Amino acid sequence: MYRVYRDVFQGGMKVANYFMGYHMPEYIFGRGCVRDLPQVLKDKDAGKVLVVTDEGLVRLGIAGRVLDSLRDAGIEYALYSDVIPNPTSENVEAGFRVFRENGCQSVVALGGGSPMDCAKGICAKAAHPRKTVRQLQGLLRVHKRVPMLITVPTTSGTGSETTVAAVITDAATHHKATILDLVLIPTFAVLDPELTVTLPPDLTATTGMDALCHAVEAYTNRRYNTKYEDILAVRAVRLIYDNLQAAYEDGSDLVARENMQLAAFYAGRAFTRGCVGYVHAIGHTLGGLYGVPHGKAMAILLPHVMRAFGEAAQPRLAELADACGIPGESAADKADRFLSWIEEMKRRMNVPERLNMIREEDMDQIIWWAMKEANPLYPTPVLWNYDDFKAFIDSVRE
Ligand SMILES: NC(=O)c1ccc[n+]([C@@H]2O[C@H](COP(=O)([O-])OP(=O)(O)OC[C@H]3O[C@@H](n4cnc5c(N)ncnc54)[C@H](O)[C@@H]3O)[C@@H](O)[C@H]2O)c1
Ligand SMILES: [Fe+2]
Repeated sequence: MYRVYRDVFQGGMKVANYFMGYHMPEYIFGRGCVRDLPQVLKDKDAGKVLVVTDEGLVRLGIAGRVLDSLRDAGIEYALYSDVIPNPTSENVEAGFRVFRENGCQSVVALGGGSPMDCAKGICAKAAHPRKTVRQLQGLLRVHKRVPMLITVPTTSGTGSETTVAAVITDAATHHKATILDLVLIPTFAVLDPELTVTLPPDLTATTGMDALCHAVEAYTNRRYNTKYEDILAVRAVRLIYDNLQAAYEDGSDLVARENMQLAAFYAGRAFTRGCVGYVHAIGHTLGGLYGVPHGKAMAILLPHVMRAFGEAAQPRLAELADACGIPGESAADKADRFLSWIEEMKRRMNVPERLNMIREEDMDQIIWWAMKEANPLYPTPVLWNYDDFKAFIDSVRE
């Protein structure tokens, strides 16, 4: 019965998607292009900006350099730099207070997915000051003009610089959930690979695997993609196949960094319409409950989920193998080799094989939250019910 409901829901979504107006932000790309940020803000009449970033970027001096460039260009700004990884509703509320108290008109997000998502949350709050983050989470709940958002990603992973999504953890319940709204697609993205050279190897690996996960989940999902999203997903996978290991081994390899920056951007656009799947649905709950870094959860879960889908995912995985030049006798063989590539890469980059943080008493909560996020919205190749989730999670825990 639920399957029928899901099919009807997804059929409706597929039609609705044609009227959604998905688009990419305007963007600039290239080594050192963050130096053009002040000019971008002037061209866009951004007015006074709130810069949203985190402690790590302040410590590295990256935030300081960007703020200096704004000051030198005579651009007024306020700063909110307390975003934590897996940002919380408290981060959004605190950032929004800084935005309002300083009379800001626009927001610049500098950092990985956490500052970018917090900035999106602040924009959503600016449109609905009296609503809580929880009330804004879900599909198309903002639906109102928001302040201009300019994103400057410093990881190559989330693609938040181009997506409709802001993933925020409720500070009280630890439920990590998503605000999904077209108005949250940033106006502009500054894709400067030089900003990512300071990423240590472990973060390079896991954030890169997050981008891979976006592309693979979007590509193996059914229903919502058009040819355009498919092409972007395939390109992202190919770029990651060719460059992630190199960026991990030599963080200063700017060609690899450039290509990873593009891969994350393409993958973000692909899943904005194609959606993610059960890797994300489970991974988000682990981020909210235990603070597991998002990319790490993705990297652990991705091959396990794809293998658990069995035959249903194999034809699409085989196409991704073809795109990477991974040979095989049949679709099943190619899919297997593609997943083996991911598993080997995980081992080489020291990503753990299994989940070691799950407490038995949380299992029920994890499964309900994952199901709430994924069903009926995500058009995964196989539909999982409670028992399927339980069996799967049991099979990947230590
Ligand atoms: N909105 C979306 O579409 C979307 C998609 C996927 C994930 N996400 C969310 O994004 C968040 C994860 O973002 P993330 O993986 O980019 O990590 P992050 O933003 O949480 O950053 C992780 C750490 O990396 C540090 N860091 C960032 N850039 C650095 C650099 N250049 N050099 C050195 N250190 C640097 C940060 O200071 C931080 O300590 C999660 O909350 C996840 O749910 C959002
Ligand atoms: Fe992700």
